[in-house]
Amino acid sequence: MLSDEIYQQLAALVGDKKITREATELSYWGKDSTSLIANAAAIIFPQNIEQLQAVVQLANREKIALVPSAGRTGLSGGAVAAQGELVVSLRDMNSIKQFNAVDRTVVCEAGVITADLQAYAEQQGLYYPVDFASSGSSLIGGNISTNAGGIKVLKYGMTRQWVAGLKVVTGAGDILDMNKSLLKNNTGYDLQQLLIGAEGTLGFIAEATMRLTRSPENLTVLLLAVPSLSALLQVLAHFQAGMELTAFEFFSEQALQKVTTQLQLQRPCDEVGQYYTLIEFEAKDEAIVDQAMALFEQCLEQGIALDGVMSQSQAQYQSLWRLREEISSVLAQWQPFKHDLSVPPSQQGEFLLEVEKIISELAPQYQVIWYGHIGDGNVHLNILKPDELNKTDFDLSCKLLSEEIFKHLASYQGSVSAEHGIGLLKKDYLHYSRSDLEIALMKGIKQQFDPNGIMNPGKIFS
Ligand code: MLT
Ligand code: ZN
Repeated sequence: MLSDEIYQQLAALVGDKKITREATELSYWGKDSTSLIANAAAIIFPQNIEQLQAVVQLANREKIALVPSAGRTGLSGGAVAAQGELVVSLRDMNSIKQFNAVDRTVVCEAGVITADLQAYAEQQGLYYPVDFASSGSSLIGGNISTNAGGIKVLKYGMTRQWVAGLKVVTGAGDILDMNKSLLKNNTGYDLQQLLIGAEGTLGFIAEATMRLTRSPENLTVLLLAVPSLSALLQVLAHFQAGMELTAFEFFSEQALQKVTTQLQLQRPCDEVGQYYTLIEFEAKDEAIVDQAMALFEQCLEQGIALDGVMSQSQAQYQSLWRLREEISSVLAQWQPFKHDLSVPPSQQGEFLLEVEKIISELAPQYQVIWYGHIGDGNVHLNILKPDELNKTDFDLSCKLLSEEIFKHLASYQGSVSAEHGIGLLKKDYLHYSRSDLEIALMKGIKQQFDPNGIMNPGKIFS
């Protein structure tokens, strides 16, 4: 915990109004979207990179552990101050500084809200394609620190692909200004890439140059009800071979039931499937729409789709997407045990069936909900907490279940965290996806960037 003296020194760096240790503020700012409990010493809001650097330098001198905080939408506990750390929120460093139309880049501070960057890009006639349900509250610095993925990875890749330059304050308190928009830059190790997805364990993202791209034309979705998992994967193969897609998402009938019931939404089509796919593409001209319809009809003829609907307006496009994007927040009331897994796309069918078998054998009373980004190999497994169990007992039993699931995952060379990061919640499972040598090298890199071990200690590994 911070002494009064250190607290006053920190206040002198940022101003009295930009630091707090008021109890309600501590519990709000000290955590992310997980159910982990915050135990923060104080929250500080630097206003610029110089103040941020001064805070990190003081933290080095006084050996104060820091937790970087952005939009607090994370699902792995990466932004949770669980051990009396000082939370450093980048919320106030939120200006969009500079747009370059020729390079198609925009410089923004870490605290810019993802949706604001998307809107800014649109004002310039361009597009920032990394997108997910929490884009209205997540911050670009957090997106970079977690290498956020989302619903359009199939076409556009993850955040890493859109970072053209980074300005960071390292854990040692130095400022590194890296790359500055170059597309080609083969000058040794790419240090910038180490900070992307490092979950704040190496330093703070203070500012980023983000790439933009051309705006997609007339995005359209086709929602299909499919009879089985194997049919779903055949539909995926069929559409991928037949046309260019911008997203291919899926969710189960149970997920659809929860969303439509809780939010009082219409079911999208008459037939009931075991799963539903949401296939997005750019309907640039009539020929593309005809092609999508032809593929849809072939799926119906082959019995791998039962029914479907194609969006005919922007409103319908949005309401179909809502059925997918609301799943996570609707399920929150069942306090689900969440996994965010990936295996090579070709092995997903086999893997999902094995996971279902493990759960039905070891915990048949648990309801399992699948959804996610099946087009890029990333599925979200949510196990719902039964009312009669308390959260601690439920989590404990799910952890035992997880070990079994991860043994199978490892045999597919899968990832224990495809897009949500390791944080606190997944670090016990890191060894299923990373070798001892890889983990030792990661620790060595941390030592270089953060010699006093003040940056987000205990996250990713102990
Ligand atoms: C999603 O795809 O909806 C997000 O990753 C959130 C979640 O997994 O619950
Ligand atoms: Zn996701």
